[in-house]
Amino acid sequence: MQELEKLKSELKQVNLEAAKIRDLPVEERAEFGKKINAKRQKILSDIQEVERHLADAAVDAIDVTAWCGINEGLPEFYSCEAGSEHPLTAEIRRVAGIYRDLGFDVMESKQLDDEFHMFDSLNFAKEHPARDGYDTFRTEEGFIPPAHTSTMQHRVLKMYKPKLDEGKAIAVVVPGRVYRNEDVDATHEHTFYQCEGVYVSKDCTMGNMLAILREFFEKYYEQKLEIRTQPGYFPFTEPSLEFLIEKPKSLGGKKGDYLEMLGCGMIHPNVLKMAGINPEEYHGFAWGGGIDRLVMLRYGLMDVRYFESGNLKFLREFCK
Ligand code: DAH
Repeated sequence: MQELEKLKSELKQVNLEAAKIRDLPVEERAEFGKKINAKRQKILSDIQEVERHLADAAVDAIDVTAWCGINEGLPEFYSCEAGSEHPLTAEIRRVAGIYRDLGFDVMESKQLDDEFHMFDSLNFAKEHPARDGYDTFRTEEGFIPPAHTSTMQHRVLKMYKPKLDEGKAIAVVVPGRVYRNEDVDATHEHTFYQCEGVYVSKDCTMGNMLAILREFFEKYYEQKLEIRTQPGYFPFTEPSLEFLIEKPKSLGGKKGDYLEMLGCGMIHPNVLKMAGINPEEYHGFAWGGGIDRLVMLRYGLMDVRYFESGNLKFLREFCK
């Protein structure tokens, strides 16, 4: 760099010198011009040379063969650490697999939805305060990143309605990512996962729903469980329940230690009607609950924020 500065100041000097040509007698001017021009050309080509070197050096500074640092803590001969599924992805597969074994289809939820699927299709009255209970984010255009997987209920009902016409039942679960504008702490994340379940047939009952849910939780936690329900309120189910399980003893639970795992109920007749299903002829039940919470209990995790943190130390704990 210093060399370049030196050459540039030499060039300035030569240019000043060249200006003196006007003060010389005419017969000396040609000789002087030749000399000064040669000097200038030499300096200009030196400048070019130095600049080329500097540009090359700048490229050399990026060593594309250098270690990229992802192997920190591993023996040097590892060229790259093998990746693995994110623990939530693995658990979502497990959840979906259990429901599939019980005869359910699995559908994926949407990442961006609208007012109709978030609220109207689920029997939320216009201006009803229950809409505010969901702390939704909104895009400038008015779209909603879904605050629950129930946004998929209307789509499931419409898409699977032909099954009812064939005399079969609708049985679908929808795992998906959901978003809420919440203050984040150890038990609340703005981005988390839920799994929705929808079942419709001519003769299903709440007893069937409780049996399915018990079966699911016993399979998921690989042990017999006590279950309990308590009244709840959701505009899209009537009656609505909260479903609880007794905290598994193997996971540190004591007798009478119940945990609320999901919301559920019999699908409201208006929800069926909006999807073109006659509530006089068909009944349905639905449920929805957090997957993160399910997984936290299974592995004894105390902080939901780990899941979205990208913390490699945490993720490696789950490498198979
Ligand atoms: N979507 C509700 C929530 O996130 C949970 C829920 C309750 C889902 C009742 C359902 C249901 O399908 O029937 O708070």
